[in-house]
Amino acid sequence: MSINIAIVPVAGLGTSVLPLTKSQPKEMLAVGRKPVVQYVVEELASNGIQRILFITSQGKSSIAAHFDIDENLIQYLRETGRENSLVELAYERQNIEYFYTRQRRQLGLGHAVLCAEPLVGKEPAVVALGDSIIGRRASSDIVSRMVDTFEKEKADAVIALEPVAAEDVDQYGIVDTAEQQNGCLRITGAVEKPSVNEAPGNLSIAARYVFNPAIYDALQKTQADRHGNLQLTDAIDLLIRQGAKVVGVKLQPDVKRYDIGNFESYFKTFLEFTLSDPEFGSEMQAFVRQYLNQLDQHEQQG
Ligand code: UTP
Repeated sequence: MSINIAIVPVAGLGTSVLPLTKSQPKEMLAVGRKPVVQYVVEELASNGIQRILFITSQGKSSIAAHFDIDENLIQYLRETGRENSLVELAYERQNIEYFYTRQRRQLGLGHAVLCAEPLVGKEPAVVALGDSIIGRRASSDIVSRMVDTFEKEKADAVIALEPVAAEDVDQYGIVDTAEQQNGCLRITGAVEKPSVNEAPGNLSIAARYVFNPAIYDALQKTQADRHGNLQLTDAIDLLIRQGAKVVGVKLQPDVKRYDIGNFESYFKTFLEFTLSDPEFGSEMQAFVRQYLNQLDQHEQQG
């Protein structure tokens, strides 16, 4: 794959899931056995990404620590006969170089992406949100398909898309699309968290992007929203209005985007990953079934 760099913004405050995120990054919250951001990095590695630039901020140092090679821990596991646990640290050895830069003020996702410009602003790059897992095993090939489309279509930007229920459009960036031509879904507009009535459709932006450097210029020219945040979706819309070619690639129908940015979706994601754990999944399913039966019985009795 020609594009081998991904920008991973992890600098947000995560205020929607306080107090969980008071002193730990949202991107380090556990989902099943791993922190969210580990799924993101593993997905990127399996899609040929070899350089990751984290856009980080105050209070997020545990993310960098998580991807360091911890020789002391490895030695301790060896010395105490716990070699079996070493497999859990295999992700430290992925063929990835990590880079970090700080977003010093939390001025929105668009602003976080703009922080990458001085470092990687001359080459096309993948952007992957650090709080969103794609696919239950994080084994989606969406990023490879997006990069292929980026090259084949000579696009300026490629956006991952997922259909959502009409009543949920106000939680996402939503795109407008033209008729599909030769399997290519041209995006003709993008709007951040529209009301149900204003939404141009139900295709949501699914946390993965490929951009050529034109995005930085569009971000510089984009107005902040009424909360003072620079929205990436607004910059994509500006790109389109400037005549850029922006194309969508849909997630496979059996692949979901899991975002853990609010309690409802975090709880659902945690439950789904736990119930499908290779070792404890069936036991957890039996436990939940039994618990729900008990609740039903209590309700019938009460
Ligand atoms: P969100 O849009 O969920 O924003 O971030 P947030 O600020 O973390 O959450 P709330 O609204 O306060 O609850 C999506 C991704 O973009 C990053 C986040 O870290 C997350 O991975 N982000 C967001 C930044 O890097 N910087 C920002 O200013 C905002």
